[in-house]
Parts: sequence; C-alpha cells; structure tokens
Amino acid sequence: MHPTRRTILAGAVLALASATLPHAMAAKPLVIGFSQVGAESEWRTANTASIKDTAKKEGVTLKFADAQQRQENQVKAIRSFIAQKVDLIAFSPVVESGWDTVLREAKAAKIPVILTDRSVNVSDPSLYATLIGSDFVEEGRKAGRWLLDYAKKNGDKPLNIVELQGTVGSAPAIDRKAGFEEVIKGNPKLRVVRTQTGDFTRAKGKEVMEAFLKSLGKSINVLYAHNDDMAIGAIQAIEEAGLKPGKDIIIVSIDGVKGAFQAMMAGKLNVTVECSPLLGPQLIDAARKVVAGQPVEKRIIVNEGVFPAEVAAKELPNRKY
Ligand code: AHR
Repeated sequence: MHPTRRTILAGAVLALASATLPHAMAAKPLVIGFSQVGAESEWRTANTASIKDTAKKEGVTLKFADAQQRQENQVKAIRSFIAQKVDLIAFSPVVESGWDTVLREAKAAKIPVILTDRSVNVSDPSLYATLIGSDFVEEGRKAGRWLLDYAKKNGDKPLNIVELQGTVGSAPAIDRKAGFEEVIKGNPKLRVVRTQTGDFTRAKGKEVMEAFLKSLGKSINVLYAHNDDMAIGAIQAIEEAGLKPGKDIIIVSIDGVKGAFQAMMAGKLNVTVECSPLLGPQLIDAARKVVAGQPVEKRIIVNEGVFPAEVAAKELPNRKY
C-alpha cells in the first residue's frame, strides 16, 4: 500500500478506537492534592463538603489531607503530594507565614499551587497561581460598620468591646481585626477593652469568654467574634454567667452559618457577616484552567452580605451551609 494511504488508514482506525473507548480511558482524570486546615468550625465542615462534592461531581481525583490546625501537617501533606506527582496542589493555609520553602519545592517539581480561603506571605508571588476566597479585611469593616450604626441608633453611649480573635497568625484573624479597628477608630466611644484568641472553635470561644466575664463582669457591652463558632461558645458562657446574650451583651460575628441564624432567631446573636465556604466549584474550575496553561486572575474574591437578626427567620431557609 502507498505510505500516505497507510497513514490515513491508521489515523482513521485510531480515531475510531478513541471514539469507542470509555471516557475514563480516553481522558486521564485531573488529580488534585488538597490540604485542609482542619475541622475546627461549622464553616470548615461546609468548606470541606463543597470541595469534596464538587470534585466527585466533576470526575476529579481528590487526595484530601486534614492538617488538624497544624502548619507542620500541611507542609508534610504538600511534600507527599509532590512525591505522588499530583497535577495540582491546593491548600487553605492555617497561618500566613512560613511557606516559602515548601512552595519552592512544588515549583521546582513543576506542580502548580492554588490557595483557597486564606492567604500566605511569600517573597515570590509566582509560588502560587491564584487565591480564591473572601476579603477578610472587608468582613471586619462590615462588622465595624454594623456596630457604628447600632451605637448611633442607641444614643452613642460608650461601649466596652471584647474581641475573640481567630487562630493566631491566620489571615482571617489578622485581617478581620484590622478591618474592624479601621472602622471603629473614628468613634472614641467604642473601645476594645480585651482581645484574645479563641482559635476559631466553640470550646475555646466559651473558655475565653468565661475569663473575660470573670475579670470584667457586667462592664462588657459588646462581643466581636471573628467567627460564629466562637460566638456560639461565648453565648453559652454569657448565659451561664446569668446574663442575656444579644441583649445585655450585643454580639457581632462572622461566617453566616446556620447555627448563627438559629442563634439570631432565638434573640441571642445580633448580626453575622457572611463568609462563604462554598469554594468547591471555583477551585475545580480554576484548577482545570491552571493545569491547561490558561490564564486565571491572581485573586478571585467571593461576594458576600451582612445578615442582622431581623432578617434571620426569612433567610434561614435559603442558607446552604
Ligand atoms: O478561614 C475562614 C475561617 O476559618 C472561618 O471564618 C472560620 O469559621 C474558619 O475556621
């Protein structure tokens, strides 16, 4: 047979074979290694579910590792993903600093990295492709603006604020503190009298609030909690101290999980600023683009609202987490 005709025939046979091959054999599924912070909050549980469910739906192989809130576990997981030669590494960094070395290792192995939810402080921004998540400074500002408005409506009396911070060194703890302070510093009547970490958990939120109540008693007017779980833990401490959360102590928190809506409907929480954990679809979409060499935005920001107690009952049925 003439060589050209043989090539055409071979090509036709190959095309026919790949058209009849099952999809799984024809296209290799994308493999993503994902290192999650932990399971410290209702928010985190919803975030993990969103990422796992989307990966499953999209036919992506997800290698999932829970770091139990420890950076050294995340570094180990990232190194193991590099050794396994995954197509892409994604992770939600427990703290901001200390990532340069391991991210350089990923870059040297030519494995792209996507950050979800929290940011890192690195000298070389090319160490990651994109950061998908909320604007935590803006969330802090929204909490501060709600409080300014509350203070104005209530005759601008002096208010003593206690603050429950998130995990020390984490992006949401640093940024939510900064955003809140930026807004309230214009009002001399609003004073943060105590601030301490509650590590984003209910148990720690309760424990620290108990300590605040013991030393400051009824002089506390407002609690600003960096997440709903700590606020819910603190609500318990306030009730056990014989005070009424949401009335004797005004409570402002962040996340917008269902537990916060239930607390608002019970009159125990005054407002929650939304922080969406449903990042799965954006992560898988960006991962496909990055692996295919297509451009992605360096920062993908999620749009979010503010939910005061007055709208809680109407909004609860619409909440997805
Ligand atoms: O990084 C997002 C924060 O981490 C959420 O506000 C908090 O609930 C979680 O643990």
